[in-house]
Amino acid sequence: MEFQLQKSLLRPWNIGDESSLEHHANNRKIWMNVRDHFPYPYLRGDAMRWVQHASHNLSHTVFAIVVNGNAVGSIGLVPKDDVYRKSMEIGYWLGEEFWGNGIITEAVGAVSNYAFEQFDIVRLYADVFEWNKASVRVLEKNGYVFEARLKKAVFKDGKISDALMYAKIKE
Ligand SMILES: CC(C)(COP(=O)(O)OP(=O)(O)OC[C@H]1O[C@@H](n2cnc3c(N)ncnc32)[C@H](O)[C@@H]1OP(=O)(O)O)[C@@H](O)C(=O)NCCC(=O)NCCS
Repeated sequence: MEFQLQKSLLRPWNIGDESSLEHHANNRKIWMNVRDHFPYPYLRGDAMRWVQHASHNLSHTVFAIVVNGNAVGSIGLVPKDDVYRKSMEIGYWLGEEFWGNGIITEAVGAVSNYAFEQFDIVRLYADVFEWNKASVRVLEKNGYVFEARLKKAVFKDGKISDALMYAKIKE
C-alpha cells in the first residue's frame, strides 16, 4: 500500500530506513509532542526496533513519509478496541528540517480518507498537547473538529498539562 502525494510518498517502513529514521527522529522538539514510548535520545537501536516492528505491520496502518527518497517521518493509525472499536487514533511526526511545507497537512488528509475507506470505523481522533499549535492547525485544515480540553491529562517532561481532543467523523 503506497500513496504518491504531491509533497511526499507514503509507503511501508522498510529495512534500510534506519539511518534516516535515527537522524530525523532524534530531536527533542519531536519528543516533546509525542507519547513517551517515542524515545529521546533516539538511537540506532531504537531505529532498528521500529523498522523491524513497522515493516511487519500487516494491517497497513503505519507509513513512512518519504521525501527525496528518504524516510523523514511517520504517520499511522491505531485501531481502538472494545466499545471504541469503531475509532482509530491518528499520529504523525516529521523531521524538523521539513516542517512548514504542508507535507503533514497533505499526509493527514490522505491517511484520513484511506482510514474511512479501508476500515470499518466512523471516528478518527488525535489528542494534541495544549501547546502544539502546528498540529492543531494540521488537524483543522483536514476537517478535524475541537471536541474537548482534557484537563491535566498529560504528564510530559515532568509537567502536567492539558490535552486537546480533535476528531473527524465519517460523513
Ligand atoms: C506537527 C508537525 C507534524 C507539523 O508539521 P508541518 O510540516 O509543520 O505541518 P504543515 O506544514 O503541513 O502545517 C503546519 C501548519 O501549522 C502552522 N503552524 C506552525 N507553527 C505554528 C504556530 N506556532 N502557531 C500557529 N500555527 C503554526 C503552519 O503555519 C501551518 O499552517 P498553514 O498551512 O495554515 O500556514 C511537526 O511540527 C512535528 O513533527 N512536530 C512534532 C511531532 C508532533 O507534534 N506530532 C503530532 C502530535 S499530535
